[in-house]
Amino acid sequence: MRSTPTFTIFAIFLITILPHAHSSSPFSTALETLQKQLGYNFTSVSLLRRAMTHASFSQENNKAFSIVGATIIESTVSFNLISKYIDISAKELNHKLSLISNVDSSCAVDGINLGLHKVVRVSSKTNSSSTAVVCGAFRSIFAAIAIDTGNPCNAGNFFLNIHGGLDLGVYAAM
Ligand SMILES: *[C@@H]1O[C@H](CO)[C@@H](O)[C@H](O)[C@H]1NC(C)=O
Ligand SMILES: *[C@@H]1O[C@H](CO)[C@@H](O)[C@H](O)[C@H]1NC(C)=O
Repeated sequence: MRSTPTFTIFAIFLITILPHAHSSSPFSTALETLQKQLGYNFTSVSLLRRAMTHASFSQENNKAFSIVGATIIESTVSFNLISKYIDISAKELNHKLSLISNVDSSCAVDGINLGLHKVVRVSSKTNSSSTAVVCGAFRSIFAAIAIDTGNPCNAGNFFLNIHGGLDLGVYAAM
């Protein structure tokens, strides 16, 4: 029993010091997990940090990243389709692109599968599971990878891996 006060003081010391000594916040831990899921380690984790920050949370947010990410996804998909089906009609190509760009059936599904709704930082009034937030975060990942690698094609290949290739038949059936 003599050691109790010492132990208490030691415990208080640990509780006080640990969060500071250990610089990983839940958000940084989530970013580490996300990198494992993506199979990609960022050189500049700040890019992934920004990708996982909604405009409602900070001025430093993923708004522009999500536009770039959507463009990377579309160019990856159209390049892969035209390479595979050189005679694809413009109508069919547009149709496939609209499926891949569809927020409800495509990017929100991919984003939720990655658990982005649990990672993305939003204001307390914003629903992090809404399709707009999840899609924005999902698309932003590919902008972040493109900037980090200096290569949009790399980012497109990560999209294909995560999306599970281009079996668009699945989406066409929806
Ligand atoms: C990322 O870094 C971790 C820890 O250093 C390592 O175990 C893992 O293999 C790396 N992943 C890739 C895809 O490079
Ligand atoms: C947040 O959005 C998701 C997806 O649209 C919805 O299912 C959920 O009910 C919403 N939650 C709240 C608290 O509005």
